[in-house]
Amino acid sequence: MAKDGLFRLSCILSVVLLSINDIACSAQDEERKAKHFGPTLLSILRTWVPLRLNRRELIPWLLINLVCWKKLWGGRGKEEVLSVFRSPTFHVQTTRSWDFIGLPETAKREPTIEGRTIIGVLDTGAYPDLESFSDQGFGPPPEKWKGSCKGGANFTCNNKLIGARYYVSTEDSAIDGSGHGTHTASTAAGNAVERASLFGLANGTARGGVPSSRIAVYKVCDSQGNCQGDGILAAFDDAIADGVDIITASLGEQAIPFDKDPLAIGAFHAMAKGVLVTLSAGNSGPDAGTVGAVAPWVLTVASNSLDREFMTKLVLGDGTLLTVSSTCSEASARACEEGCLDMQKVLGKIVICEWLGTDAVSKAAVYNASGIILKQPLSKTYPLPTVVLDGPSFEMLVSYHSSAKNPQARLLKSETIPNPAPPTVDTISSRGPSMITPDIMKPDVSAPGVNILAAFPPNVPPTMFGGEGDHRSVKFNLLSGTSMSCPHAAGAAAYVKTFHPDWSPSAIKSALMTTASKLQDTITNKDPSGREFSYGSGQINPVKAVDPGLVYEITKDDYVNLLCSLGYDIRSIDSNSTCPRGAKNITEAELNYPSLIFRAPDSKPFKLALNRTATNVGFPNSTYKAEVVNSSNAINITVVPEVLSFKSVSEKKTFTVEITGSGLKSGTQLSEEFAWYDSVHSVRSPIIVYAE
Ligand SMILES: *[C@@H]1O[C@H](CO)[C@@H](O)[C@H](O)[C@H]1NC(C)=O
Ligand SMILES: *[C@@H]1O[C@H](CO)[C@@H](O)[C@H](O)[C@H]1NC(C)=O
Ligand SMILES: *[C@@H]1O[C@H](CO)[C@@H](O)[C@H](O)[C@H]1NC(C)=O
Ligand SMILES: *[C@@H]1O[C@H](CO)[C@@H](O)[C@H](O)[C@H]1NC(C)=O
Ligand SMILES: *[C@@H]1O[C@H](CO)[C@@H](O)[C@H](O)[C@H]1NC(C)=O
Ligand SMILES: *[C@@H]1O[C@H](CO)[C@@H](O)[C@H](O)[C@H]1NC(C)=O
Ligand SMILES: *[C@@H]1O[C@H](CO)[C@@H](O)[C@H](O)[C@H]1NC(C)=O
Ligand SMILES: *[C@@H]1O[C@H](CO)[C@@H](O)[C@H](O)[C@H]1NC(C)=O
Ligand SMILES: *[C@@H]1O[C@H](CO)[C@@H](O)[C@H](O)[C@H]1NC(C)=O
Repeated sequence: MAKDGLFRLSCILSVVLLSINDIACSAQDEERKAKHFGPTLLSILRTWVPLRLNRRELIPWLLINLVCWKKLWGGRGKEEVLSVFRSPTFHVQTTRSWDFIGLPETAKREPTIEGRTIIGVLDTGAYPDLESFSDQGFGPPPEKWKGSCKGGANFTCNNKLIGARYYVSTEDSAIDGSGHGTHTASTAAGNAVERASLFGLANGTARGGVPSSRIAVYKVCDSQGNCQGDGILAAFDDAIADGVDIITASLGEQAIPFDKDPLAIGAFHAMAKGVLVTLSAGNSGPDAGTVGAVAPWVLTVASNSLDREFMTKLVLGDGTLLTVSSTCSEASARACEEGCLDMQKVLGKIVICEWLGTDAVSKAAVYNASGIILKQPLSKTYPLPTVVLDGPSFEMLVSYHSSAKNPQARLLKSETIPNPAPPTVDTISSRGPSMITPDIMKPDVSAPGVNILAAFPPNVPPTMFGGEGDHRSVKFNLLSGTSMSCPHAAGAAAYVKTFHPDWSPSAIKSALMTTASKLQDTITNKDPSGREFSYGSGQINPVKAVDPGLVYEITKDDYVNLLCSLGYDIRSIDSNSTCPRGAKNITEAELNYPSLIFRAPDSKPFKLALNRTATNVGFPNSTYKAEVVNSSNAINITVVPEVLSFKSVSEKKTFTVEITGSGLKSGTQLSEEFAWYDSVHSVRSPIIVYAE
């Protein structure tokens, strides 16, 4: 089996090599070329997180003294005063994310099947020696497990962490040198660990979505977060042959055609073997068209906030208290001008900068500055106590600094505060539409991905990538991004699968999509895609997804037919498939997807229709009624027939969604939805209508 797999891969590889070479020659890829095209052309894939990490600081102490960045405000650099402050300890529920999406520790489970479920994690490896991966109470791996422990130097597997392989030429072990893979693996399926905390601040039980399940890690990214296409393909092949049930991969790049995308190709092979793959949408938001994972056979996951946030207070020497919300919304910041900061003067001082490059932050840490105050947030972790001020607060700080004789400040310890606002998609979460198949809605769903606490290697600085000057060691860390939301979706998919081991990847995906809750829109000038193109069908609800009532299934043949209709050479994706002869070509929009996109003509009356086929997975004898939400009032939407009656489980019924309108201006985008209701279920599908 493994040999067969290798052969298939080498066929695919030649294609991938050629096509990525093409990409390297295009002008738009300057940045990638510069950073990632080393000796191997396949190094374009890397994890999202090092691009834009959005973690807020949580430091148990704070300090003093202001060193002004002279160049910024007229050379009035000051350095003074000293005082030390200790703040009280706060308690947070570290497992908030699973409770928040309705999967409490006490949720109904299928413990035996959960123990036989295996999650494959393609990431930076894992740090094995952690409570989250301890095998206390676990029996031997399930019989279907065909994998092995080939984690290399010092990597030990056990009955929880049952498999490890690595595909990184520069490192000789699957041990996680960055923390990213440890965090994602424990989010998906880590054991419940009581009294998990970060510097004692967050204190509670940390756990994965399916804590009784087994984990197999496939290290495809090195400790700097660079991931290579050939390694990714090989890892998919191995994971499928090893017998994993769900694969999660929090990595990617911008959308590229499916036959040139190792993640799409690998996920296609997984889908063909009944394994659902969850991929992170990417952290390139909020610009439209930034979503990276766009293959219709994967579950693409956006990142949303929770009902809590972290806040750090800054006390100025005159007693003014500035409250600093750490919900920083700016995605990136202007770079620091190197050389403006006199490193000899930062010792024991708080450095104030309007903008600051990441290198300057680590440098300030190396030179033992006490803290940093920024105006514009960098989506990056900091090795020092850091606060980010909004405009007015920053102005107040500047004014205080230039007028006070003896400017001083304290950065208080970060606190957890409730966030009563409904969850919204994180600014950095990548937005649709898909640049490859714009009529297939992406991302598919959203899951918590802001300030997620999960396991972390104690030998890696919590700053993660580029932790120079950071000497802290933690066993749990708070990270943000779609890398963190993706394993939530994987854990949820695994949870659903424990109740329905025979469900296809498309059925599990449909269940998670049609039971998801719509999120609050974030639409603004800066975030024009802040509706379905940011959250897809909405935030996942694992418990509801176990009983969706109806599912929209898509078979491998359906995907093959779509790829053939789109003009792909199917053998470049699956050498085992051929285009069906004489089959009717279908459009992207016609795929039996659980969400719908209609493209209306510009300013002309239109009548459009799409068919969908629902499969009954609820009560044998059930009747569903369609309900349309006419939110824009700009079009008429009808579902024909309005009632679907089923007599048995697995029965399929086809219906038509029709829309009519008298004309939409080019550029219009409408968000509508319909749902099938019986007495128990609601099977919701979002609809995007746009005019060209
Ligand atoms: C393995 O452990 C030894 C001894 O602790 C250490 O010197 C070596 O660097 C480790 N190797 C890896 C790849 O972590
Ligand atoms: C965490 O909470 C537990 C139980 O609530 C308590 O015993 C423990 O001391 C706390 N640990 C810290 C570091 O606050
Ligand atoms: C910073 O502090 C560390 C630990 O106290 C010390 O070893 C180092 O020399 C200091 N660096 C500078 C530039 O002062
Ligand atoms: C289907 O689409 C493919 C690719 O665009 C095209 O080559 C083929 O002729 C089409 N087949 C039919 C029956 O229209
Ligand atoms: C390839 O096709 C054969 C025959 O239909 C099937 O048995 C096999 O599982 C397929 N392999 C893959 C990877 O789909
Ligand atoms: C949609 O379904 C209707 C009713 O089953 C059928 O008549 C029609 O041909 C279908 N349309 C497409 C595009 O498949
Ligand atoms: C299905 O519904 C019909 C009509 O309500 C009823 O006669 C029949 O007994 C039901 N069958 C089952 C299996 O519930
Ligand atoms: C939707 O709104 C439009 C405009 O107000 C109205 O004409 C139409 O009847 C509505 N359709 C439905 C199904 O309620
Ligand atoms: C919707 O349908 C109603 C009744 O057929 C019609 O009066 C109305 O103009 C339609 N609205 C639009 C926006 O097409």
